[in-house]
Amino acid sequence: MNVVKTVADLRAAVTRARGEGKRIGFVPTMGNLHAGHIALIKKAGQRADFVVASIFVNPLQFGPNEDLASYPRTLTADQDKLFEAGCHLLFAPSVEEMYPHGQALQTIVRVPGVSEGLCGGSRPGHFDGVSTVVSKLFNMVLPDLAVFGQKDFQQLAVIRTMVRDLNMPVQIIGEPIVRAEDGLALSSRNGYLTTDERTTAPVLHRTLQQLADAIRNGERDYSALLASGHQRLQAAGLRPDYLEVRDALDLSPVTADSRELVILAAAYLGKTRLLDNLLVDISQKAS
Ligand code: PAJ
Repeated sequence: MNVVKTVADLRAAVTRARGEGKRIGFVPTMGNLHAGHIALIKKAGQRADFVVASIFVNPLQFGPNEDLASYPRTLTADQDKLFEAGCHLLFAPSVEEMYPHGQALQTIVRVPGVSEGLCGGSRPGHFDGVSTVVSKLFNMVLPDLAVFGQKDFQQLAVIRTMVRDLNMPVQIIGEPIVRAEDGLALSSRNGYLTTDERTTAPVLHRTLQQLADAIRNGERDYSALLASGHQRLQAAGLRPDYLEVRDALDLSPVTADSRELVILAAAYLGKTRLLDNLLVDISQKAS
């Protein structure tokens, strides 16, 4: 696996692969890689001939009081994992390489609608940072396809909308959430949890499962359902940031025509913000 740190070296390596007729697959990450990231790399390997990963902790998508400084940076271990997973090229740029003209006057890509509310509501500017850096990375790599996790369900919807609206010639593939055995969605931020918190954390997934079961069993009083979900999270010691049910197609409010729903949640456990979601297919029940 080749590791490059500059846009020029990245372009040269990708151009070479493309010249050999290879289809380019891309997986952007912020590093501290776990099995969730590796599943994306493997999917890219199934769909493309040349797999490019990026590791860049993007300052533009962190709020002033967030964990930019403490975000885990584990480049050496990440490189080994990527190599084992069949990644061909790793792009690991510095902040100066990505934002050579500074961040203050950087052109911003903003995706309205789908980036508002949920994580966009509690993390102002977060998705502007994500869509901007992903646009830049797409323009640097020029991939045929890119793989994203459903773990960040709203992020995936933002990227799909951006690619559609800006006619970016990149196929976007969404991959299911990879979980620990006890149901906790794998996340680089899980490393912040204390031993006790780690024991409590799966309550988030179990709560989503309980809500999903109720919906599958015909419950349609979502506000009552979500209120009981809030209670369960709080009783376990979590502080819900949001808990919502939306149409999985575009995160719009649920209507009588909705066929697949998604229950989305973010909750604090100590200082760690946990994020999770669960898809609920209700097409069978619809008459
Ligand atoms: P990061 O949090 O490192 O995640 C990189 C990719 O891995 C994202 O597509 C995310 O959805 C996916 N992922 C994380 N945990 C997962 C899990 N348990 N199962 C499946 N997929 C999982 O998301 C970002 O970085 C950044 O916002 C980025 C897109 C790189 C832009 O900076």
